[in-house]
Amino acid sequence: MSDDVNILREECLNALAAASDHRAWDAIRVSVLGKSGQLTGLLKQLGRMDAEERKTRGLLLNRLRDELTRAIEARGQELETAALDARLTAERVDVSVPVMEAGRGAIHPVSQAVEEITAIFGAMGFSIAEGPDIETDWHNFSALNTPEHHSARTDHDTFYLPAEGDGRNRVLRTQTSGVQIRTMLGNKPPIRIIAPGRTYRADHDATHSPMFHQCEGLVIDRGITLGHLKGCLIEFLRVFFGKPDLPVRFRASYFPFTEPSMEVDIGWSRKTGEIGGGKDWLEVLGSGMVHPRVLANCGLNPEEWQGFAFGMGIERLSMLKNGIPDLRSFYESDVRWLRHYGTDPLVPALLHEGF
Ligand code: DAH
Repeated sequence: MSDDVNILREECLNALAAASDHRAWDAIRVSVLGKSGQLTGLLKQLGRMDAEERKTRGLLLNRLRDELTRAIEARGQELETAALDARLTAERVDVSVPVMEAGRGAIHPVSQAVEEITAIFGAMGFSIAEGPDIETDWHNFSALNTPEHHSARTDHDTFYLPAEGDGRNRVLRTQTSGVQIRTMLGNKPPIRIIAPGRTYRADHDATHSPMFHQCEGLVIDRGITLGHLKGCLIEFLRVFFGKPDLPVRFRASYFPFTEPSMEVDIGWSRKTGEIGGGKDWLEVLGSGMVHPRVLANCGLNPEEWQGFAFGMGIERLSMLKNGIPDLRSFYESDVRWLRHYGTDPLVPALLHEGF
């Protein structure tokens, strides 16, 4: 073997043996086999040699490349295994430690809010309905009176999925409102449901997450009026926030699937963040009387059946109630955060005890 090839071989093998972590290993890999690596440089020179020289030297260099590639791969595996072993030893969880000694876990604020919302509406006679996270475009938009090319669709930053065999376009549901459609199609009125669940939008900052939770509500019966909607939501908000005289305001708004539509605000203080105190208003949910076209899309005669619907962001309600400043913290799985904001798993959400 000629000297330079020999030296490169020795250097590389020694450096590999000395590399103690992935970083050092990767630096060697790049310096030898990378685009501007030493061996790559030598291989490039072959082009300038005459045929005879190229043949002997080419053979030598290609052999060396095979050998070093194998050595680099093998050392990489070794280091990976060693790193995993070190982690497994350092992060060992002793499952035999008695629960009380290990410290009790905590209910995540999202689960806790769902429990509380469910307890309140459960007491008002609502049951729970569910729908799929992967929803047809029709359930998520069209049946909710949001036809293709409707501007409300672009507000949602939708994650679109490729069409499946049945030719129906699918999305990650941007709202739980599609459960309204599924419930009306699958059940005869009277209907009284809430539908908590995951929703998705392509958005990410301190107040938006690509995955978050909503809770939908739907009531369908004969003779349902705006008065029922208002009574129901005022009661819910006052119980949820534990403030019997919480100011609640209904403000005209627009949603494609309700007419009239209303945004619901609660009183708070912008300065101190106190819910129910101060002179400011804070939007907490959307609501309205179910649009006759939505009823008709689900085979219900709007002359006979009326109803109201509402939708709320679960993280948003939890942030307000618990003074949590950043939405992203909900999904970071930081045990210290969970210990601080989580609730005791042995204390269930019971209405008569208050939350
Ligand atoms: N789906 C709406 C949203 O994601 C919230 C909403 C508003 C739901 C009004 C409703 C409703 O059921 O009536 O912004």
